[in-house]
Amino acid sequence: MMLDNPAAKYRPFAAVDLPDRQWPSRRIEQPPIWTSVDLRDGNQSLIDPMDQERKQRLFDLLVKIGFKEIEVGFPSASQTDFDFVRSLIDNGKIPDDVTIQVLTQARDHLIDRTFEAIKGARSAIVHVYNATDPMFRRVVFNVSKPECIQIAVEATTRIRQRMSEAPETNWTFQYSPELFTTTEMDFAKEIVEAVMEAYGATAETPMIVNLPATVEVATPNNYADQVEWFCRNVNDREALIVSVHPHNDRGTGVAAAEMTLMAGADRVEGTLFGNGERTGNVDIVTLAMNLYTQGVHPGLDFSNITPIMREVEYCNQLPVHPRHPYVGDLVFTAFSGSHQDAIKKGMADRRANPDAIWDVPYLPIDPLDVGRSYEAVIRVNSQSGKGGISYLLEQEHGIELPRRLSIEFSQVVQEVADRTGKEITSQMIYQAFADEYLGQTVPYALVNHRLFSEPDSPKVSLEATIEEHGERRTIQGEGNGPLAAYIKALAGAGHDVEIIDYHEHSRGQGADAEAIAYVEVRIDGKAVFGVGTDESITSASMKGVMSAINRHLSSQAPAPNVTAASLA
Ligand code: KIV
Ligand code: ZN
Repeated sequence: MMLDNPAAKYRPFAAVDLPDRQWPSRRIEQPPIWTSVDLRDGNQSLIDPMDQERKQRLFDLLVKIGFKEIEVGFPSASQTDFDFVRSLIDNGKIPDDVTIQVLTQARDHLIDRTFEAIKGARSAIVHVYNATDPMFRRVVFNVSKPECIQIAVEATTRIRQRMSEAPETNWTFQYSPELFTTTEMDFAKEIVEAVMEAYGATAETPMIVNLPATVEVATPNNYADQVEWFCRNVNDREALIVSVHPHNDRGTGVAAAEMTLMAGADRVEGTLFGNGERTGNVDIVTLAMNLYTQGVHPGLDFSNITPIMREVEYCNQLPVHPRHPYVGDLVFTAFSGSHQDAIKKGMADRRANPDAIWDVPYLPIDPLDVGRSYEAVIRVNSQSGKGGISYLLEQEHGIELPRRLSIEFSQVVQEVADRTGKEITSQMIYQAFADEYLGQTVPYALVNHRLFSEPDSPKVSLEATIEEHGERRTIQGEGNGPLAAYIKALAGAGHDVEIIDYHEHSRGQGADAEAIAYVEVRIDGKAVFGVGTDESITSASMKGVMSAINRHLSSQAPAPNVTAASLA
């Protein structure tokens, strides 16, 4: 049960004293070195850790995306990892520009086993860690500060020795003071400096110091303060590549990584879509795409993000959330009518200015840039308004509803959405449109027509065959145009119809092109819409009138409910 006074059990994070912090006014203007830890930290956290096949697939994917540093496993802790690393090396699966990284504990036999796993690698990072956090020193390992330093230094010395015995490999050394963010800053500096000395790190042969937020325990600005403090205070900063390794326990791993980069970090360790222990490692996809949307190319390729997500889901056997930034199934979808309307206008503006800086409402990124489509942007449910419905009809079916008709038709769709309680697909919208307007061919239908005109007269005469309740009859009329002549002919046959509004356009292209006519007529004092399609625009408009008459007669014709408020 939650405590009335959580302060009795939990303490606030003790901030670093850094009143002259510089990082808040900095910007990230270039990508960091990205290191994927999917195959190690990510894999360690899986319900069902990856087998060789899944590991190989994920490795290949990481290479394809553009990672140049990949932590491939913890070979001294897992036979599967050991075999995988060996198979990568023995089968020549590592591209020349990719460096593999392996994790080891700071213990002699585990270090030796690690070197067995990576023997023969062209380029490798050996990553050693020990816990430096005071609670771990006291409770878990029962070591003093000097003993903790000794563990790190001895491991470093051994690794350095092993590296010198295998000069064919291009080695890099990495040290992580585990739980850096909850370690006393002075002690973190002291142990890292001792390790630097043991390794002999210089500006020419730098080592990586990885400063993990093993458990995220504070707001991300604290991590940034710690990184800035560390970078400013550590001896010989140039001999270090400063790396961060955020976890996401508070849900701010991405913000933490960004702020620590502003604070001086050079490198980020994380995973695709944030898989990792507990709430995960920092999500490199989000980090990379956040950079991209600020105009900085991340150096990783997520142009086709959906297949990447599916492959990662397969390898991890874990789903990616439908609202995951940049990739989730729902993130390029707007359900709310006002959002749909704004997106529709933004997209139209974009089409008019395709080379302008991206500025479309509610969409922080052009879906096309990550291989998603505009068509998928708008879907319709009972929360949607006419904007989304018209947009889908226009984009996917070439039907450009006049404004008043779109208001009326949105009520038809709304009724379907309310009845089904489900999301309405564009196909369902088209079907509703066809049923409501195009399919209205009884009891009255146009069969055919002929037009006659005199060279010097503006008048047109029309003779049409229509069907009334299954019976054919011929009607005749004259007017200032074909539609006016048809209305006259209908009046002569007892159907009083007055045209209020009329729109037409062509739909489709080439041999498949057809005309579509939207007519709004007044019958018995009521305004009714009808829609007709045909190869000929004249026939389309006449069919539109018949559709309106049939809708008026049919019990299902909704009373036109176009009020001033709905037009606003
Ligand atoms: O989260 C962590 O501290 C780690 C270390 C091994 C770097 O994964
Ligand atoms: Zn970790």
